[in-house]
Amino acid sequence: MDNAPKETRDRLPSGAQRAGMVREMFDRIAGRYDLMNTVMTAGLNRLWNKKVVGATGLGPGGRALDLACGTGSLTRDLAKKVGPEGYVLGVDFSREMLRAARPAPNVEYRLGDATDLEGVSSGAFDAATIAYGARNIPDLDALFSEMARTLRPGGVAVCLEIARPEGRLSSAFYGVWFDRIVPRLGGLVSGDPSAYSYLPESVKEFVAPRELADIIERNGLQDVTWECVAGGIITLHRGIKRGDAG
Ligand SMILES: C[S@@+](CC[C@H](N)C(=O)[O-])C[C@H]1O[C@@H](n2cnc3c(N)ncnc32)[C@H](O)[C@@H]1O
Repeated sequence: MDNAPKETRDRLPSGAQRAGMVREMFDRIAGRYDLMNTVMTAGLNRLWNKKVVGATGLGPGGRALDLACGTGSLTRDLAKKVGPEGYVLGVDFSREMLRAARPAPNVEYRLGDATDLEGVSSGAFDAATIAYGARNIPDLDALFSEMARTLRPGGVAVCLEIARPEGRLSSAFYGVWFDRIVPRLGGLVSGDPSAYSYLPESVKEFVAPRELADIIERNGLQDVTWECVAGGIITLHRGIKRGDAG
């Protein structure tokens, strides 16, 4: 199922074609991804990771699943939180992004599709996260049902994503930064201009925060809330796996 609104569905490919395009794109830019991420967010991505880690409620010894983990920046922050007794599994479908990921003793990186987590047990995790990944995934129902399936009852799902802000000031900033500067800067730094013109396109076509909350809720997560971060440029959604916390 493609969750994009009809009028924008034609701009980017959908379904398997979109997934293939996204995977190839991340394979190409993997070597420059971390640098570009830091430049693009002026280093604030580290702060936003901290917000995600805080929202999971994880503590020492916890188990976390980080989907679309890329080069593992959030994965390693989760790993710090759960400490040596804990465990974090990072899953991504781009071989090159995983190759660029720095290892950590309590982290396992695995090649896989976030919408079909073959070999990942049900109810195995205290928290499941996805940062800047949902926007790239056409089948959001499959993504969140896999998150719900792999969480234990009472476990927490957190989704961090870039959004189009509604305030006048942040919209103006967004228009200049993401629509004009990021594609040019990204093209220069990564050598792949198409990857960074895809970014604003994918944000434009992504579902609104209210709709994302509904999708999360209809896939087995409850008490779904979201907050706007950085003037509405980023949204953080959180939901709890249904059932008694064990
Ligand atoms: C913008 S990067 C985010 C990486 C990382 N989460 C971070 O915070 O830097 C998006 C990642 O999503 C991955 N991705 C997209 N669709 C996926 C899918 N269906 N399954 C697994 N990974 C996927 C891409 O390969 C890419 O590494």
